[in-house]
Amino acid sequence: MAKEKQVFFCQECGFESSKWMGQCPSCKGWNTFCEEKITVGTRKQSDRRAFVVPTSILEVVSEGETRFSTGLEELNRVLGGGIVSGSLVLVGGDPGIGKSTILLQMCRNLAQQGQKVLYVSGEESLSQIKMRAERIGQFTKDMLLLCVNNLEDVEEYLSKDKPKVIIIDSIQTIVAEDISSAPGSVSQVKEVTARLMQIAKQKNISIFIVGHVTKEGTVAGPRNLEHMVDTVLYFEGDGKAGFRILRAVKNRFGSTNEIGVFEMTETGLVEVANPSKVMLDGRAENTSGSVAVCTMEGTRPIILEIQALVCQTSFNIPRRTSVGFDYNRVNLLLAVLEKRVGMSLAACDAYVNIAGGMRLDDPSADLGIVYALVSSYRNRPVDEGLVAFGEVGLSGEVRGVSSVEQRVNEAKKLGFSTCIVPKSNLDSLKKIEGIRIIGVSNIAEALDYI
Ligand code: TYD
Ligand code: MG
Repeated sequence: MAKEKQVFFCQECGFESSKWMGQCPSCKGWNTFCEEKITVGTRKQSDRRAFVVPTSILEVVSEGETRFSTGLEELNRVLGGGIVSGSLVLVGGDPGIGKSTILLQMCRNLAQQGQKVLYVSGEESLSQIKMRAERIGQFTKDMLLLCVNNLEDVEEYLSKDKPKVIIIDSIQTIVAEDISSAPGSVSQVKEVTARLMQIAKQKNISIFIVGHVTKEGTVAGPRNLEHMVDTVLYFEGDGKAGFRILRAVKNRFGSTNEIGVFEMTETGLVEVANPSKVMLDGRAENTSGSVAVCTMEGTRPIILEIQALVCQTSFNIPRRTSVGFDYNRVNLLLAVLEKRVGMSLAACDAYVNIAGGMRLDDPSADLGIVYALVSSYRNRPVDEGLVAFGEVGLSGEVRGVSSVEQRVNEAKKLGFSTCIVPKSNLDSLKKIEGIRIIGVSNIAEALDYI
């Protein structure tokens, strides 16, 4: 007998509880619990499966993954070299960031290559999609649209036809009829995703799922699904600014360090092949507190501008703010400057910003931040042709970083004249010519150069 049971789910992280709670004990979100009904069936004796025999690993024939291109180089890179047949990909991001747009562009390219794609939309009508498609470009007849809100309709269609790729836009608007909870609830999105996973693996169709990230907690966030899918991509960036960054958070078929950079224009998203150049665009000339650093995003070096502002505080406790970089690390670097260089920063507000809306979690930016802070404190500009990188330790030492050669070459390519690098990395840079390379072993030495 199947029985209906009432449970409460945190719509952010999927935590299950038998009673309502104000704060989720797992993700600490407030007011995120929603009531859902689930059916718990007791399985009959006759439902038991026949005896299952495991296979020896030596008998398994590996098929090797087959990949095909999305027609967008940046997207291919983030996916680890193209779409893997039969994979399930989750594309998460804030509403309005461009998830539908990038997937529609991908569909256009696939259809032009002669692959059949099915775009299932539970959000927009056929004519709305058509209007958007007209801005993006020319489509062929292999691009099929389906505006439905339940999974059964999609399954029905798939029993007759087999597209190469399916887009589900979005998971929060598609329901499975045999689950009684509302669209977008935790049990719905989990059930629909699990069934899409089965379709992907059994029929060897690649499926892309769109998932909105929400703050209100009224619809289940994509975090609930991360463990169920093969690849998780997040689309981020400032909604107003033009740049969008696509980042792989999980990838069963490739590296998770890669990023793709796009720009939103009138006619859809345009790939940014040389992010360093774009990130440095509009850099103010001859101002204090601005320094270029070189960070690695996956296999790609990117040069970014770090900005710092240090000024006399008008509060009892100085303000420290960091945008795009770890706040605690900025405080740590301020403390190192205070103790090892003797700068008195206790009465100063300090603000650090990574220009271009990028987010950095690479410790090699430390040296650049130190330079920017000191430059702003002394109100003296740093040479614009200078790039600095290196990790700064608590005793003020500058530690070596990875991929130095690539970083220096990127700086050289963009016309920088000087590179400040950790001394321990100098050995691997002997072959590079045409750019001045200076090795430093601690911040006192590093500050002597500016
Ligand atoms: P959209 O893909 O609808 O976002 P999501 O699916 O992630 O919610 O993109 C939304 C924004 O992009 C919208 O504000 C309009 C803008 N946009 C352009 O600027 N140019 C274009 O060519 C398109 C199609 C959209
Ligand atoms: Mg959309």
